[in-house]
Amino acid sequence: MQAALVQEVPAAASLDLQALVADPAAADPASAVCRDQLGRPLRDLRLSVIDRCNFRCTYCMPKERFGRDYPFLSPEQRLSDAELLRIVRAFVSLGVEKVRLTGGEPLLRKGIESLVEAIAAMRTLDGGQVEVAMTTNGSLLARKARSLRDAGLGRVTVSLDSLDDPVFRAMNDVDFPVGRVLEGIEAACAVGLAPVKVNCVVECGTNDAQVLPLVEHFRGSDVTLRFIEYMDVEGPSAWSQSRVVPSGEIRGMVERAHALLPVARRDGETASNYMLADGSLKLGFISSVSHPFCGDCTRARVSVDGRLHLCLFATSSVDLRPHLGADRPAEAAAQAVRQAWQARGDRYSELRAARLASGKRQYPTVRMSLVGG
Ligand code: GTP
Ligand code: 5AD
Ligand code: SF4
Ligand code: SF4
Repeated sequence: MQAALVQEVPAAASLDLQALVADPAAADPASAVCRDQLGRPLRDLRLSVIDRCNFRCTYCMPKERFGRDYPFLSPEQRLSDAELLRIVRAFVSLGVEKVRLTGGEPLLRKGIESLVEAIAAMRTLDGGQVEVAMTTNGSLLARKARSLRDAGLGRVTVSLDSLDDPVFRAMNDVDFPVGRVLEGIEAACAVGLAPVKVNCVVECGTNDAQVLPLVEHFRGSDVTLRFIEYMDVEGPSAWSQSRVVPSGEIRGMVERAHALLPVARRDGETASNYMLADGSLKLGFISSVSHPFCGDCTRARVSVDGRLHLCLFATSSVDLRPHLGADRPAEAAAQAVRQAWQARGDRYSELRAARLASGKRQYPTVRMSLVGG
């Protein structure tokens, strides 16, 4: 592994976070309903806290594009904790109740626990607790699970593409051993960051033979195991439809070994849910390519350079930075978000087939590694 890639990266500024946590319930709840052009409410914020990652997953940050000279954001270009919290407060004032921290790899951001703590201390418009979740590659989770839980992290999603060590090392492309990620998942379960979800991106010919071993490994645990179709996001150059294993096929692999029962899907959820008929494992299939779920997409993403992305495949973004200064009124950022969300009509996954057929591929402004999925 490359030691330089695993250092903790300092946040742009350190400050008294608690002083920045305002009470968004003081906002007028009537002004909170925020719907886009397709009637979809704004419910989830996915906030990227760093654009760096210590892995180079071939489907996300292939080394040939994300090499040593890749222009990652400098600490000065990354939002400070104060700015990130202003963003979260803006979204909470618009009715958002769930914040997912992503990266790159969010655990590489120094002081991540304080950020979690400050967000968990915020109140929703109903006076409830803001739910804080995180998507991580799990490499640093074994040593951080307890402090994250103590800071107020509710739950965690860990990426795990293979149980087979050589396959795992080849997919993360930094020779990281699978055992350390498994320890991270166990630590997350042990401290109660529940439900712990495990995400596996399935790539044809690379790790499709790992589907059943993953099912067998997590049977009897509280983990929810989810298989994700390989998407044509910005980043990998090697994507092609032929490398996508449709969820129907993945489900078939499982069903040849185990009976499955469908489980209801919540509005806005990415996964179609199942469980093994004997109740020993919860499973999900995320089918953005074969069965897009744009119809009830309630997710907004903000990258750590302060840009609001209304779709994973959006070709433009909104700069929130000018609205984050201490001299700006508290509601300025909320107004900018509301305006952008109300104009939103994105539904890329539903239009993918037509776009690909047209041969005119427009590259999105967002990279998966910038917004962490
Ligand atoms: P929770 O509902 O909070 O558990 O989050 P989630 O189900 O959205 O989970 P997670 O963050 O783990 O997302 C899982 C994966 O689904 C991501 O890594 C992406 O690959 C994919 N995904 C998530 N959101 C979207 C989306 O809005 N559009 C598309 N096309 N794919 C998405
Ligand atoms: N296709 C599908 N999911 C992806 N992710 C990253 N790149 C891709 C891709 N090309 C998602 C994975 C990973 C998370 C951080 O981002 O779910 O677990
Ligand atoms: Fe892999 Fe996640 Fe890092 Fe992308 S952000 S390279 S998927 S660990
Ligand atoms: Fe939402 Fe865009 Fe994903 Fe569709 S493709 S589910 S609109 S983020």
